[in-house]
Amino acid sequence: MTFSFESTAEVEVPKNPLERVIGQDEAIKIAKIAAAQKRHLLLVGAPGTGKSMLAQAVASLLPKPKHEIAVLHNQERPERPILEVKTKEQLENEKKESQEYGMIIHPSQAPAFVSEKLGFRCRRCGALSASTVPVCPFCGAEKFVRSSNPFGDLILGLEKEKSEGRVHASRVKPDGKEETFIYEKTPSDMIRVLSQDDFRRMRESQKRMRKVLVPLLRATFVQASGASETEFLGDVKHDPYGGHPEIGTQPYLRVAAGAIHDAHEGVLFIDELSTLGNIQRYLLTAMQEKAFSIVGRNPTSTGAIVKVENVPCDFILVGAVNINDIGSLLPALRSRIRGDGYEILMKAHMDDSRENRMKIAQFVAQEIVKDGKIPHADKTAVEEILKESRKWAKEIDSASGLTLRLRGMSGLIKLAGDFAIVDKAKYISAAHVREALKYSKSVEEQIKETYPNWWKAGMADYAVRREGKGSDAL
Ligand SMILES: Nc1ncnc2c1ncn2[C@@H]1O[C@H](COP(=O)(O)OP(=O)(O)O)[C@@H](O)[C@H]1O
Ligand SMILES: [Mg+2]
Repeated sequence: MTFSFESTAEVEVPKNPLERVIGQDEAIKIAKIAAAQKRHLLLVGAPGTGKSMLAQAVASLLPKPKHEIAVLHNQERPERPILEVKTKEQLENEKKESQEYGMIIHPSQAPAFVSEKLGFRCRRCGALSASTVPVCPFCGAEKFVRSSNPFGDLILGLEKEKSEGRVHASRVKPDGKEETFIYEKTPSDMIRVLSQDDFRRMRESQKRMRKVLVPLLRATFVQASGASETEFLGDVKHDPYGGHPEIGTQPYLRVAAGAIHDAHEGVLFIDELSTLGNIQRYLLTAMQEKAFSIVGRNPTSTGAIVKVENVPCDFILVGAVNINDIGSLLPALRSRIRGDGYEILMKAHMDDSRENRMKIAQFVAQEIVKDGKIPHADKTAVEEILKESRKWAKEIDSASGLTLRLRGMSGLIKLAGDFAIVDKAKYISAAHVREALKYSKSVEEQIKETYPNWWKAGMADYAVRREGKGSDAL
């Protein structure tokens, strides 16, 4: 059969990441459901068949996260920081409110001594100008001459807060009570008038001792491995000063979220799920509760006494596992996934149909576009890749058809592309693919060809080493 295109430059690469996964139609169908219904997935299959790709595609279908997770300092019990989960709307409203404290007035509406102190009014001629201009544009006097009377401020009943551009002024109300106002410059060079109460509230909202653990703006795809328990489940770091109020670091600042929390409202992808070992139990708890406490995981650290309870971790688990490793999965974890999700067997090969050959052409185009450093492939190159694909299906999986172990194919395409670059060729051709095939063999394959069997290869290696050593020593 021949293709209707001249080169893969004419082959369309789909924008939707799910459509870029080739030959796994069943898996794609289930993945779509998983994303829409928030179900877990266990992807079982040979390496390089698209498990990671599929997990990423599921994540890309999810809506943006809606919550931010933070901890607040707990005044009474610092070792129990307070959890705070806020929606985007709540965060936006708070921000707006903090801009809305008090009342904004024009400098001409403020008492003369206030506009003078804040640098709007000239002390000599009384004209108003922008506070950023140091010299009065009307009379040329300097606006910021310090009062020669060191008690001047006190006498006037004013207290200027240095460098904050703020003036406190009190006045006596008709009922004899004193009332204090705070005047401050706004970023748009106006004046904000705050009552003492407004001021206190504004200060509090700005100075709250708060640490964001999981930000609102985050990826919906989080990949984790069981290599580090603390990275997986969260931790409270050690403080040599034991959280001492002056020289130590407050506990809430030492709390760190784990991958399970980062994946809240997204996908938690675990490649080689079977390597998680004991952590599988924690993962199971996290999936059941949709929340997991963060504690210091090193018992000898000062972090061990700190705990934040029930930190949300409502994620979609996508686990990948090789067929041979299914047995080492925790049965309870598997039944959890099956009870609230799907197990999918990835295919390792597909029929050699016209449609599927076109899919391989799409795959070649995709890999070339993704790589970005190699030219497109002409149709002879794609034919050659198809030949190899048939061979792999037969040799590895004893199947007739086209292989779906596409990571290996991807390596082959890149190598052929590099040869085309060396050749300064416009396209990758069949000759480049054949050349690449010579070099793309893994070390094991190369050894197999050089030595009749593994045992002999090992012996030959051993003999060489012994010889070398012997002559050296003598
Ligand atoms: N089904 C597939 N469709 C398209 N490309 C694939 C497919 N499977 C693997 N690949 C290619 O191989 C690379 C590795 O695939 P990956 O998803 O990591 O496989 P796995 O996780 O199953 O080991 C991908 O980035 C892609 O280039
Ligand atoms: Mg992978």
